[in-house]
Amino acid sequence: MSASAYALRMCGIVGYVGERSALDVVVEGLKRLEYRGYDSAGVAIRDDAGELTVIRKAGKLANLQAALAEASEADLTGTLGIGHTRWATHGAPTDRNAHPHTDCQGAVAVVHNGTLENFEVLRDGLEHRGHTLLSETDTEAVAHLIEEQYDGDLAAAVRTVCAGLEGSYVLVVTHRDHPDLVIGARRNLPLVVGLGEGENFLASDVTAFIAHTRTARAIDQDQFVELRREGVRVTDAQGTEVDGEVFHVDWDTAAAEKAGYEYFMLKEIDEQPEALRETALGRVDVHGRLMLDELAMSDEDVQGLSQVIVVGCGSAYHSGLVAKYAIERWARLPVQVEMASEFRYRDPVLDRHTLVVAISQSGETADTLEAVRHARRQRASVLAITNTVGSSIARESDATFYTRGGPEVAVASTKAVMTQLVAVYLVGLYLAQVRGYRDGDEIRSHFADLAHTPDLVAAVLGRMDPVRKLAREIASCERVLFLGRHVGYPMAMEGALKLKELAYVSAEGFPAGEIKHGPIALIEKGTPVVVIAPRHALTPKLVTNVQEVRARGARTIVIATDGDDSMVPHADELIRIPDTKSLLSPLLTLVPMQILAAEFAMARGLDVDQPRNLAKSVTVE
Ligand code: G6P
Repeated sequence: MSASAYALRMCGIVGYVGERSALDVVVEGLKRLEYRGYDSAGVAIRDDAGELTVIRKAGKLANLQAALAEASEADLTGTLGIGHTRWATHGAPTDRNAHPHTDCQGAVAVVHNGTLENFEVLRDGLEHRGHTLLSETDTEAVAHLIEEQYDGDLAAAVRTVCAGLEGSYVLVVTHRDHPDLVIGARRNLPLVVGLGEGENFLASDVTAFIAHTRTARAIDQDQFVELRREGVRVTDAQGTEVDGEVFHVDWDTAAAEKAGYEYFMLKEIDEQPEALRETALGRVDVHGRLMLDELAMSDEDVQGLSQVIVVGCGSAYHSGLVAKYAIERWARLPVQVEMASEFRYRDPVLDRHTLVVAISQSGETADTLEAVRHARRQRASVLAITNTVGSSIARESDATFYTRGGPEVAVASTKAVMTQLVAVYLVGLYLAQVRGYRDGDEIRSHFADLAHTPDLVAAVLGRMDPVRKLAREIASCERVLFLGRHVGYPMAMEGALKLKELAYVSAEGFPAGEIKHGPIALIEKGTPVVVIAPRHALTPKLVTNVQEVRARGARTIVIATDGDDSMVPHADELIRIPDTKSLLSPLLTLVPMQILAAEFAMARGLDVDQPRNLAKSVTVE
């Protein structure tokens, strides 16, 4: 296996300097960042004797914690430290490849998120000059390069080394000669500073330090941070100090804790009514007109739009598919939806009359970020819909609609998707309002329905015991299909994605009308088929599709609206949801599918917060 095959794709990073036990702060931060990767973890602590102690372990953070418990306490007593939790793309992650990495002297310790493209050349050069590299990572080369450049000024050495790096990186560096300095550097990947009193933090995202401070500063492209107890200096690549925006994080610390739940995902599912309420809050003025100041476009520009293109990855892409139905219906604007990873490679037709909506929970997904950059280069206006204040996508877009879902820790997205749906409905209604396609009464009525959905979601959550039971019953099945029509189709894809990512079974979502053109061949006796069938003009057609699959032996699990009995004769299992306008039904139909997937995976004994091979946000293409 080539060494670059171990390149890091997605990781969590923490740096700390202050008065407390650095080990405690760093490990606690890693716990909160573990969703970003959990193949291995490690820490470097500068102890009071001025030595760097590095402990690293393959596997989840729990393995590292066990190793730390066995290590000498004196070695780990110190108030400056760095840590890392890793997600590798190929090969079995080992202790040796875990971060931090050190130089020949053990004087420099480095953690890294990203991929260095010129790593082979750098390593060859280092080996030629007599360095011995012990791991297969690209990161270790950085530690040795810093060793070569270091002449007492650590910040300068890191800047010089970074000038020779190609690729993407966040680096956090410490040196045993510096009891009060941690250096951070960033290109293309996220790095945030937490500003405390007598202590400061560096992390991949704010959840790592919100227990200690809510004041944060995002680091921009190609900037460097010098973190000390009494202050933080941010510079450009030449070492000149630069200003930046300090922001307040209002996420509740408790929101990043499990609070008695077995898994974050279960808690996040239960938090959905509140997350929806928060996201819809304060969007209407005293005259009942929708306000979307975030869009930052004049009415004239909105009226001049000729198309909307929505981009996102994974679950965010599914939210984007719903946006198409909402915006086209309400605002009569043509909408295309595209997976962000494909978007810019087909040279899409964009101009200043195009609104690109980029949806991303984390605001850091590399494919979506690149799509944003591409769109802006083509002079399109870009609206970000994200959950993460100060994230790269938020900062690089023309305007940002923040969903107010609070931190989402479980890898499988639940409340974030729900709040994205609210956001796209609001954008659709707002565009309709400004473009004059719907009158005020109609918009008010849709908004009132939307504002009522948190109560309906709470009601659905209260009815989920039969779904849990059903999930346990079918948990031995290796294939599950999901069918829907209209907005039920993207939800079928989202339901299938949830099951795929959590339970590792083959799950596919199809438009119900398409099933006879191929997918129906997948049906065997007893194959569970989840049918998303809220009350809609298309329900009679869905009835036909359900009959088709049932005739081939499928076990039909139908999600249907209270009082609508058209599916009753064709459903082996019936899951009821309250009535709502069909366009808004994804907010309700999603809930049983989330519960089904979580319970199905738990019945298989799987960790639903940290599914294998995945990471919550993927910061390389
Ligand atoms: C990863 C996660 C998905 C998520 C996607 C987009 O692949 O596993 O659950 O939907 O990234 O993430 P974003 O943060 O951009 O919404």
